Amino acid sequence: MVDLSVRLGDLELQNPVIPASGTFGFGYEFAEIYDINILGGISIKGTTREPRFGNPTPRIAECTSGLINSIGLQNPGIDKVISEELPKLRACYKNPIIANIGGFSIEEYAETCQKIDGEDQVEIIEVNVSCPNVEKENFAESPELVAEVTKAVKRVTTKPVFIKLSPSVTNIVEIAKACEDAGADGISLINTLLGMRIDLKTKKPVINNIKGGFSGPAILPVALRMVYEVYEAVDIPIMGIGGVSSAEDVIEMMLAGASAVQVGAANLVEPYACKNIIEELPEVMKRYNIDSLKNIIGGAH
Ligand code: SIN
Repeated sequence: MVDLSVRLGDLELQNPVIPASGTFGFGYEFAEIYDINILGGISIKGTTREPRFGNPTPRIAECTSGLINSIGLQNPGIDKVISEELPKLRACYKNPIIANIGGFSIEEYAETCQKIDGEDQVEIIEVNVSCPNVEKENFAESPELVAEVTKAVKRVTTKPVFIKLSPSVTNIVEIAKACEDAGADGISLINTLLGMRIDLKTKKPVINNIKGGFSGPAILPVALRMVYEVYEAVDIPIMGIGGVSSAEDVIEMMLAGASAVQVGAANLVEPYACKNIIEELPEVMKRYNIDSLKNIIGGAH
């Protein structure tokens, strides 16, 4: 018997596999196709203080080994998420829920997190400072700003706070350290890389907003490198995200230093992606002589 369980701060997860925010709705939609209680956790659709319609379409472009999105934080707003979406998820799911919070100002992040703090249904707050598809201050690119957001959120909640970082920075270690020093309980990385495509027929950008966030298998090496670097520099847990689509990728991400692993774009291509990965993990662990996933975190260092 192999042991898939991991610890994420004070939380025990039955396995490290977590659908990434924005690729799995509010979770309950997937309960129609499989038992979502097999998941280690769920990071729900990113939520802002006010409802948002999102960016104009087209906002998806397919690419070799991935896709570009420019959704623009479409969501029903925090009040509706609390009153309607979270209860629907809790009705069919008992494992940890990660609320992903977006924002346009430090005050907005704090206000939205304060509302979520009152929800017993949520175990972790993931603060998304790194959406590449909306106009706002570049919180994820400045150690000072990211520290300010972290402190503001920590002031209003006792729940563990993970800051979701952008790969579009020169020094990811400096940014992650700033989060840790400001009191973050963990780091989620990476968000998407900014990219674009051009339609050869129209000779114009495919995405209405011109650019968007690139994700999918092509970004796994970038994510691994950043998780590896950040693991060396911080003592708080890391949720590794970026291009993960197989059990082997999960193990690679954990060897780099991730305590848990989010699966994103793969869910959009294959709705059973997380289920398949969880089912394949024991066999792949045996193949590589791994008894317990807890024991391999950071093993590549
Ligand atoms: C979006 O809503 O545009 C995607 C969210 C993100 O990449 O942070």
